[in-house]
Amino acid sequence: LESSKQNKSYRRSIPLFKSFATDAVHVGSEPEQWNSRAVVPLISLSTTFKQHEPGKHAGFEYSRSGNPTRNCLERAVAALDGAQYCMALASGLAATLTITHLFKAGDGILSMNDVYGGTNRYFRKIAAEVGFDVSFADLSKIEEIKAALKPNTKMVWIETPTNPTMKVVDIQGCADIVHEHNKDIIVVVDNTFMSAYFQRPLALGADLCMYSATKYMNGHSDVVMGLISLNRDDLYERLKFLQNGLGAVPSPFDCYMCNRGLKTLHLRMKQHFKNAMAAAQFLEADPRVDRVIFPGLPSHPQHELTKRQCTGCPGMITFYIKGKLEHASTFLSNLKLFALAESLGGYESLAEHPASMTHASVSEDERKELGISDVLVRLSVGLEDEEDIIADLDQALAAAVSISENILSENK
Ligand SMILES: Cc1ncc(COP(=O)(O)O)c(C=O)c1O
Repeated sequence: LESSKQNKSYRRSIPLFKSFATDAVHVGSEPEQWNSRAVVPLISLSTTFKQHEPGKHAGFEYSRSGNPTRNCLERAVAALDGAQYCMALASGLAATLTITHLFKAGDGILSMNDVYGGTNRYFRKIAAEVGFDVSFADLSKIEEIKAALKPNTKMVWIETPTNPTMKVVDIQGCADIVHEHNKDIIVVVDNTFMSAYFQRPLALGADLCMYSATKYMNGHSDVVMGLISLNRDDLYERLKFLQNGLGAVPSPFDCYMCNRGLKTLHLRMKQHFKNAMAAAQFLEADPRVDRVIFPGLPSHPQHELTKRQCTGCPGMITFYIKGKLEHASTFLSNLKLFALAESLGGYESLAEHPASMTHASVSEDERKELGISDVLVRLSVGLEDEEDIIADLDQALAAAVSISENILSENK
């Protein structure tokens, strides 16, 4: 990776996490755990487990409270996050909901202002409705964090890089300020974009690291799942209680699939980084593009911070196409290799229009304030050949430009 031409501008300041690939392949998949000594984890579909005597069981009672296949996945993710515990949940939002249930009505939640549209919708339209005191601030501005904390703040929610404007939050800096203010405030990092391969929030002072595993962690766009990693015994016990009580559990089959996806996380992320860097450099040099936001580029305002807290960057690129909504729309409709679809982090390239798709539930005023304009396009660069990815972007940009030429010739 270091020798790759495309990545010369991203000089890694922190080393790759030790034994990551070995842990991804082996932890949680030990053949010795099964009587059959199966090398690949079994899919345990049984909803209930026979007890030795009343109240004495072999580790599992009922599949909502614990399942052998889920257990394999959770142990693997804990190892990859450098965590003591991990919990797999029914979706990323189920993880957000379960975490929020740690608190009660009247408690304050401070969230990064630019977060996934569904997280914004949950905090604003559901959590606030049931009495949580929800507020938002730009946590990437470290000097503003202290002022945004209130006496009732119980949780600070960070997403970094943010979705879709790719702001980077200084996790260590933010966690230090918050914990200095009040050590009991729970700092959560949504690590969906970076994945465990590029960023370890727990080592940077976060209390909880959560994922929409639907994205890079599974990586194959065929599972909806959430993950929470942590080190604190008290929080783990409470979250396990809440998960069992709320019921937001994933199916054993999905756990099997996600665990299988994890085995190649390190390989996928390296290639996503390489392809995205090439695509970002292409777009940045292109006169049909106004501005590219990719934390791996030196032009990103928090490029240095990214290098300090991450070992690389995922395939997520946001850019502003020159022109108006029609140009963004024509670009997106003409892509051939990129599918026009929501979601991200799979092996296949996707493109979307946040203002009308993933962030349509964010109010127009808020979108304006965050810079989610009509000409903003979000790419999830996949694992196809670099030249084919760039050729597709190039021909779709040409199609977008041609509408201006048509308008000009019609006006002649
Ligand atoms: C950054 C981020 N966090 C959380 C979520 C929610 O996860 P899920 O769709 O798995 O519920 C998403 C989904 O797109 C996301 O992109």
